[in-house]
Amino acid sequence: MLSWDNLKEACDNCTKCELYKTRTNVVFGVGNRDAEVLFIGEGPGEKEDLKGEPFVGRAGKLLDDMLKIIGLSRSNNIFIANIVKCRPPGNRDPHNTERELCVDWLNAQISLLKPKIIICLGRIAATQIIDSELKITRDHGKWYDRDEMKFMALYHPAALLRDPHKKPDTFVDLKKIEKMIKEVCEKTYE
Ligand code: URA
Repeated sequence: MLSWDNLKEACDNCTKCELYKTRTNVVFGVGNRDAEVLFIGEGPGEKEDLKGEPFVGRAGKLLDDMLKIIGLSRSNNIFIANIVKCRPPGNRDPHNTERELCVDWLNAQISLLKPKIIICLGRIAATQIIDSELKITRDHGKWYDRDEMKFMALYHPAALLRDPHKKPDTFVDLKKIEKMIKEVCEKTYE
């Protein structure tokens, strides 16, 4: 298995799909490489592409605020990555082929991290990682068990910015995550 540094280097040089032609930076992911909790978004937007870090725009600020409610932060106790690591031009949804080619990088990250809990932010991440039939409005906040990991889908923070009425549901989901962390994680709240 590749080390984190070797994986990052290989990922930074990836040309598996067309997105490499228009990217400024590969957005590998950010956070604690020893985290027990992994958050997965969809793909970088313009700001993320420029900075090379996930969730640094408005949705990212909201994500950081949401995480703070339950004592989580990218600089301390979680890791954040995306389904695709290069920006789809014009912020379109990543194509199926792009997702399928890129998800190998994410799977390699999951193998290194061995998280206890994986939280998928929004429909694209949830249908790719949890269940292709998942409906985010119906299934957010539910726990799924697989490969000795717990999975949950949350509304994407960009969806919460578009529709603040979804925020109370997300607060309930966050509290479920906090409870599960206390049950199955050892280091996250140390
Ligand atoms: N939205 C995502 O899904 N990921 C990012 O990194 C930024 C915005």
